[in-house]
Amino acid sequence: MSAVPKQVLQLVPMREADLAQVVAIERTVYSHPWTRGNFADAVRAGYHCRALRLERELIGYFVLMVAAGEAHLLNLSIAAAHQRRGHGTALLRQAMGIAREGGARSLFLEVRPSNLAAIALYARHGFCRIAVRRGYYPAQNGREDAFVYSLEL
Ligand SMILES: CC(C)(COP(=O)(O)OP(=O)(O)OC[C@H]1O[C@@H](n2cnc3c(N)ncnc32)[C@H](O)[C@@H]1OP(=O)(O)O)[C@@H](O)C(=O)NCCC(=O)NCCS
Repeated sequence: MSAVPKQVLQLVPMREADLAQVVAIERTVYSHPWTRGNFADAVRAGYHCRALRLERELIGYFVLMVAAGEAHLLNLSIAAAHQRRGHGTALLRQAMGIAREGGARSLFLEVRPSNLAAIALYARHGFCRIAVRRGYYPAQNGREDAFVYSLEL
């Protein structure tokens, strides 16, 4: 019987050199993706930007801001071909841990009401919807609201 080699998953700090791969994923998973500049600004600002690597392939990432006892999850994405395998859950848990270590008592995020996958993920982790921002996001036909979710850490 031959053993199947285990693939190595690593969560590492996102570097400027990763941004081409990050933006390539971003463009495939969002209708209105962040730009390279948005990610470069987040890295330079010292936000918690992490990349998930499966061997050499970058397959997901998150951007988390922690300040003044609050954390904001600004981006969480898994490449389409790697979704539904628990990676989003793993990254969300990592982000929650970093937020806690940084002294945050609450974790906030915004999500499109049409993004049922993300809403299901957040609901599973105990996030509660606390507000609606009207017309927050650009959308194909005008604007779309944002649901604001929060989790007590
Ligand atoms: C949201 C996202 C990060 C989830 O990542 P993922 O790796 O697929 O998530 P997981 O495999 O950990 O799924 C965990 C749970 O979330 C829910 N979920 C995830 N994808 C779902 C889908 N397409 N439909 C319904 N529920 C879904 C399920 O409850 C799932 O558990 P299950 O697989 O046991 O049913 C991923 O779909 C993604 O990157 N989407 C595009 C970017 C995005 O919208 N990010 C969030 C912005 S707020």
